Amino acid sequence: MHQTAILFVCLGNICRSPAAEGIMKHLTRQRYVDDQFFIDSAGVGSWHIGDLPDRRMRSHGNRHGYCFDSRARQIKHDDFIRFDYIFVMDGENYDDVIALANNDDERKKVLRLADYMTQHPHQSTIPDPYYGGDRDFELVIELLEDACDGLLNYLLRQ
Ligand code: 4NP
Repeated sequence: MHQTAILFVCLGNICRSPAAEGIMKHLTRQRYVDDQFFIDSAGVGSWHIGDLPDRRMRSHGNRHGYCFDSRARQIKHDDFIRFDYIFVMDGENYDDVIALANNDDERKKVLRLADYMTQHPHQSTIPDPYYGGDRDFELVIELLEDACDGLLNYLLRQ
């Protein structure tokens, strides 16, 4: 069976994109469609390769019933071949990922995750929480739950 391959990308791959990966995997399992998807995450930067998600992201995730336990890796050009879609968190990620693409077909795979939110119409990014506090990490989870729900509805309609 063909699986739709989805890659979530942020700057460090220790806060937003591993949380998006965990929330999306949770949603696909909850809706019994996990066998239809291959879901992964990566970072633009190389600082945290091999690390677990940031302990603040993990603990906020735990409070909401998620387990964020992927290991950070850096995006590479081969990801444009392996994945059907690459979802980025903000404009900086978008520019960085687009710069790695070689042609229009690859550029077309790069999409903004925030565009799939339905409950936060004034929010155009998933903001970086790294230099923030508890409220910023909670907001990441709230926005990602909205965006991943909208994204899954969209993908299941395709
Ligand atoms: P993320 O957050 O992109 O959501 O994983 C960050 C993690 C680390 C850094 C920046 C953002 N950093 O500068 O190390």
